[in-house]
Amino acid sequence: MSKLIYVLNGPNLNLLGKREPEIYGSETLADVEARVRRKAATLGLEIEFFQSNYEGAIVEKIHEARERAAGILINPAAYTHTSVAILDALNAFDGAVVELHISNVHQREAFRHHSYVSARADAVMAGFGTLGYELALEHFK
Ligand code: DQA
Repeated sequence: MSKLIYVLNGPNLNLLGKREPEIYGSETLADVEARVRRKAATLGLEIEFFQSNYEGAIVEKIHEARERAAGILINPAAYTHTSVAILDALNAFDGAVVELHISNVHQREAFRHHSYVSARADAVMAGFGTLGYELALEHFK
């Protein structure tokens, strides 16, 4: 049976491709999802792909993953820097967790240098652009 990986995306990532393309690139989240699904198939992984602008919806998706998923790849977006609730939810998840940022957050404003999620993440990826999603999947194979 193939492993199920939850790929979770936080606020404003629904605007990928339109929002600050000089930072986040011109690919849409639908493009990213298609590439993730193609790559996952080559690794024998199954994907649940999700985006929300609401913190509680992301928390509930992580709860759902507790029962179903072997791993979580999460770009918490701005909640990276603010959300104890997402950290607590991830701490209640037993599988592998990878934190991903499209941009290199360490090269940007100081408030982006701290991540609550990093305290739980088994691996962190930043600055590879949207390609990072495909690269990060390798962690779960
Ligand atoms: C981001 C970086 C965050 O600081 C920012 O709030 C985002 C996207 C990234 O993918 O580079 O929305 O997580």
